[in-house]
Amino acid sequence: MYVSAFRCPSNIALVKYWGKKGLQLPANASISFTLRDLYTETSIESTSGSGMAEVYVEGQRNQAFDAKVQAFFDRQQATMPWIRGFNFRVDTRNNFPHSSGIASSASGMGALALCTADLHRQISGETIPMESVSSMARLGSGSACRSLFGPLGVWGEHPDYPGSSDTYAVAYPEAKLHTEFRNWEDAVLIVESGRKAVSSSAGHKLLDAHPYAAARYATANENMHRLRKILSAGDIHAFTALVESEALQLHAMMMCSMPYYLLMKPASLEIINRVWLFREQSGLPLVITLDAGANVHVLYPAQYRSQVHDLINNSLVSFCENGVYLCSSIGEGVLQLNQ
Ligand code: PMV
Repeated sequence: MYVSAFRCPSNIALVKYWGKKGLQLPANASISFTLRDLYTETSIESTSGSGMAEVYVEGQRNQAFDAKVQAFFDRQQATMPWIRGFNFRVDTRNNFPHSSGIASSASGMGALALCTADLHRQISGETIPMESVSSMARLGSGSACRSLFGPLGVWGEHPDYPGSSDTYAVAYPEAKLHTEFRNWEDAVLIVESGRKAVSSSAGHKLLDAHPYAAARYATANENMHRLRKILSAGDIHAFTALVESEALQLHAMMMCSMPYYLLMKPASLEIINRVWLFREQSGLPLVITLDAGANVHVLYPAQYRSQVHDLINNSLVSFCENGVYLCSSIGEGVLQLNQ
């Protein structure tokens, strides 16, 4: 029997990946903060068998996940023929509430790829480079490929990011990150847990026939160019404008898709407006961003944690489902659990 276990963090994009080409390749480059404290832990036990996977989520057998995990193993068989000779018991748990509405596909697929690459090393003696592990994660869920790196992951070929690629993510070089951006946190205000009205895969697909898709891809790549300069110059003002514009463009693309749809809720808008008002009054650098859902991420430098948490507890938490919000520092988060 071979065993591997890894922790993999979630991430939140600053420049958004929205729209695909080819085999899960991004239509534009993207970059994310890695959410070190919001993660999935997965362990895989492989015993002799015929390539079949069984998934347990928080200790409970979960057949709904079997198909996704099975598809992941089936895809890897071409490069890892040993998979056909094993069965896999996959145990996975998130450290954030199961129904928080936070995407667990990025951290989940990242952890699955890390464990599989480690099993490959144990069984075949060959070490898989991180780029290829990232590529494996990408095939499970696009944004997952960025979660393996921190504090920022870059995915998608872009001239301003040396070494960047459409097939895997790379770490944003620490030397190019101004000290202003080295110690940030994210408070995720949970507006809606549970299933979204339109899944991310369906949302990506709608970009194929979207009237503004080409303009959006060009803007995203231009924002990658501008963000690269902002991150090394430490310009928080420009960072705020760029990141918030990216979040609203993502949702604007949803509103202009056909069929059109809305994932923000009245509570999302209330939170955003209150954060903006607080920022205006306090002068503190709080930045909002959104995933493909109703939850609002509030990014801020760690030194303002107490002011931000006061704002949340006094004025925002009533708009959160069951009063839930989750906090994470930004940083690297991959950890091997079976040393
Ligand atoms: O990785 P997917 O296919 O779930 O797409 C996620 C896309 C966004 O989260 C909306 C943006 C991003 O870049 O993470």
